[in-house]
Amino acid sequence: MKILDQPESDTSAPASSAISYAGLIEKIEILRSTLRWTSRLERPEIEKLLRQASTLRDEVMQLSHKERFVQAAAAEPKRDLPAGARRQALIERSFVFEGTFGDNPKLLEALEIAEKAAPTDLPVLIDGESGTGKELMAKVIHANGSRADKPYISVNCGAIPDNLLESELFGHRKGSFTGASNDRKGKFESAHTGTIFLDEIGELPLSGQVKLLRVLEAHEIQRVGSDEQIAVDTRIVAATNRNLRKFCDEGRFREDLFYRLSVIHLTLPALRERRDEIALLLAYFGDEAAATLKRRPVKLSPRLRDFLRNYDYPGNIRELRNVVYRLACLAGDMADIDHLPVDIRPKSSLSLAMGGPAASGNGIATASSLAEAKRVASDEAERAFLERGLQETGGTVAELARRYEMNRSHLQMLLKKHGLHSKEFRAAAQKNKEAGG
Ligand SMILES: Nc1ncnc2c1ncn2[C@@H]1O[C@H](COP(=O)(O)OP(=O)(O)OP(=O)(O)O)[C@@H](O)[C@H]1O
Ligand SMILES: [Mg+2]
Repeated sequence: MKILDQPESDTSAPASSAISYAGLIEKIEILRSTLRWTSRLERPEIEKLLRQASTLRDEVMQLSHKERFVQAAAAEPKRDLPAGARRQALIERSFVFEGTFGDNPKLLEALEIAEKAAPTDLPVLIDGESGTGKELMAKVIHANGSRADKPYISVNCGAIPDNLLESELFGHRKGSFTGASNDRKGKFESAHTGTIFLDEIGELPLSGQVKLLRVLEAHEIQRVGSDEQIAVDTRIVAATNRNLRKFCDEGRFREDLFYRLSVIHLTLPALRERRDEIALLLAYFGDEAAATLKRRPVKLSPRLRDFLRNYDYPGNIRELRNVVYRLACLAGDMADIDHLPVDIRPKSSLSLAMGGPAASGNGIATASSLAEAKRVASDEAERAFLERGLQETGGTVAELARRYEMNRSHLQMLLKKHGLHSKEFRAAAQKNKEAGG
């Protein structure tokens, strides 16, 4: 039986030959009718069909990436557009976000640059503080490029001992050093045709930098203990939380390598620079954590919400995400300051939790007079008292006023002063009731 009228070489032609939708559809149709009308397939025919299907798949991918590249290249940067419109434009061009969330202008700019860089093979250097999403961005670049269905290999240059680095990156031959009991492929060979992500590139020792430079120039590697040059076709994305320019000035990083790696240079913003998005990120990760932990989303008490909105997040998005997961794991319906990790918890809450006097709170430590310290302490006590009351009365202000013989409008004013919302306490009480049957 004859499978496909065309010679096989046609379907396996290199992607660089003109691929068109019409040509592809024709090939797919031929494959379809072959399968439909054949009553029996022998093994060699099955293998041939699978090869042709796989070539077709590659061509479809190539074509879609080529189209996307043309669209991305033609898209003018629209920095003056509102953030939502910029994100929407990326969505319309089928950009793959890989879960990257946020509309901060600096983040959107990084995504727009990533979109244009992705389909090329140009090296990309991503920098930014710890936890700003550098690795995520590397995945975004891979996912939007023509190598998306090829290997993505991640190497942490800071985690490999100096004496194993070369073998880890380039592989080795059996017997080339003590412990090399077999021939072994390195990460560059594993990433052949795909992307290699060199994380913490700033930690790469100078000897490793020289070798990396050679790969970038010659696209060849040599396994440790071997003379053979092996051609590798690997796209390089590197990341660092160091200032590599400064490292170059200090002689810790080769300048020529820095320029080679940073043909496209992306800098990710710290969370401090995108404070306006903290509330959205809290909600986003809150829902994600609830789904992961199979529970209802946790509510945040007003003072916890205030804290989380104003906290500095030295660990950036990773820290925010971890805090939200912690709250989702430890809290009941409503999370409060005491559910925070001890090292970031405000001191006033710590001392309260440890039974200490409320008067040792944060504001008190900085009070410049006894009168101010008294006022701060009195405020804290007032707030704690009101919160407890709202919890006990299930958020019913009238009941609270009755119980403590307070004027209702005065009580409302105090709640407002402390940013306490009776509605939230009512909702929490309702949930507790439901959960309790
Ligand atoms: N914009 C974002 N939207 C959603 N999640 C994000 C975003 N940025 C980072 N994250 C999440 O934050 C965590 C940390 O991100 P990532 O590992 O990419 O940071 P990093 O910059 O590589 O950190 P480090 O320098 O410590 O290695 C991950 O869980 C990632 O999914
Ligand atoms: Mg990282």
